[in-house]
Amino acid sequence: MAKIEIPSANLSFDCGTDDTVLRAALRHGLGFPYECNVGSCGNCKFELLEGEVTHERTDSPGWTERDKSKNRYLGCQAKVSGDCKIKVSFRDHYKSEHLPQKVTGTLTAIEDLTHDIREFRFHLSTPVPFLPGQYALIYAPGVEGARAYSMGNTTTTGSDWHFQIKKVPNGAATGVLFDKLKIGDTVGLDGPYGMAYLRTEAPRDILCLAGGSGLSPMISITRGAVEAAALKGQKIHFIYGGRAARDIAGEAILKALPGYGERLHFYPAISSEDATWTGRTGFVHDIARELFGESLANMEIYFAGPPAMADAVTRMVVEYKVPMAQVHYDQFY
Ligand SMILES: Cc1cc2nc3c(=O)[nH]c(=O)nc-3n(C[C@H](O)[C@H](O)[C@H](O)COP(=O)(O)OP(=O)(O)OC[C@H]3O[C@@H](n4cnc5c(N)ncnc54)[C@H](O)[C@@H]3O)c2cc1C
Ligand code: FES
Repeated sequence: MAKIEIPSANLSFDCGTDDTVLRAALRHGLGFPYECNVGSCGNCKFELLEGEVTHERTDSPGWTERDKSKNRYLGCQAKVSGDCKIKVSFRDHYKSEHLPQKVTGTLTAIEDLTHDIREFRFHLSTPVPFLPGQYALIYAPGVEGARAYSMGNTTTTGSDWHFQIKKVPNGAATGVLFDKLKIGDTVGLDGPYGMAYLRTEAPRDILCLAGGSGLSPMISITRGAVEAAALKGQKIHFIYGGRAARDIAGEAILKALPGYGERLHFYPAISSEDATWTGRTGFVHDIARELFGESLANMEIYFAGPPAMADAVTRMVVEYKVPMAQVHYDQFY
């Protein structure tokens, strides 16, 4: 166990040699800045003042040559073997209500939602609660590094975490999860993480926007919103986009929730020509514009999906002057 000191904040925390600096800080309830947890966004940088650090993922896209020359490391990838002093600014925004923990998950069920999206259900060795919309790290057996996946269920006990995962062509982690993992097998899980969780204190109608791999967190947010007594007067709108009819999922899950068709509405849309499709066509941000226009500024907006979709939605919320405090997303990489 090493001690990490932050002299400017006059505090320190313990970090196991098998943990990363970021995750150890979050496990201690500290607000270490981050977003993706997998070395891509660069939000978790700190400066090393004293001591030695090794980087788990040496090809991290978020770690530049300039960072290396300035003695800056990514907290989500940095491991220590001895005591260190670092410089970083904590913010309460990053503190986790439920402290992240490393646990083992046993696969109890799988269900195909589309041709390439599958729900994986894990029972945890130690229950860990999470907020609707948060994510965890999955260590797929034999795959280097962890991958981030959002939980799709809601839970008070935290005994089971469900993930809706889209298979990536030739993907390392999804290849193992889809093609090798069997019921009864175990994986390493670490979580919960992420700031794009349901705000139950926000008295506004809710808009969830998801494309492809972004289904899971938006399903969790919707389930959480339906369950939250504080939100019972609010409408919930869910727009889900895919390329073709066979990419669309979510309707059966949402239909099973109370209030479907009354306060909860689902708008599936596809973005390419498909003769079998009779519903809406266009990108999710276009559908949101058509349906809500100026009213977007009065909604609590959650979104998740591939980077191109996230960029388009971000531009849309800026165009409609939605206050950023009402907009919640964790960028997918
Ligand atoms: C916050 C967050 C939440 C997400 N939630 C979901 C979700 O709910 N459902 C879903 O389907 N997808 C989700 N994703 C995307 C998912 O994490 C993976 O990017 C995707 O499944 C690719 O995995 P792969 O290994 O099969 O593909 P690959 O193409 O083999 O891997 C690509 C991804 O792995 C990263 N990577 C490569 N090597 C390493 C390493 N050593 N350590 C860590 N990362 C590495 C790459 O940067 C890239 O992001 C989420 C991503 C983030 C950041
Ligand atoms: S690079 Fe560390 S949190 Fe994204």
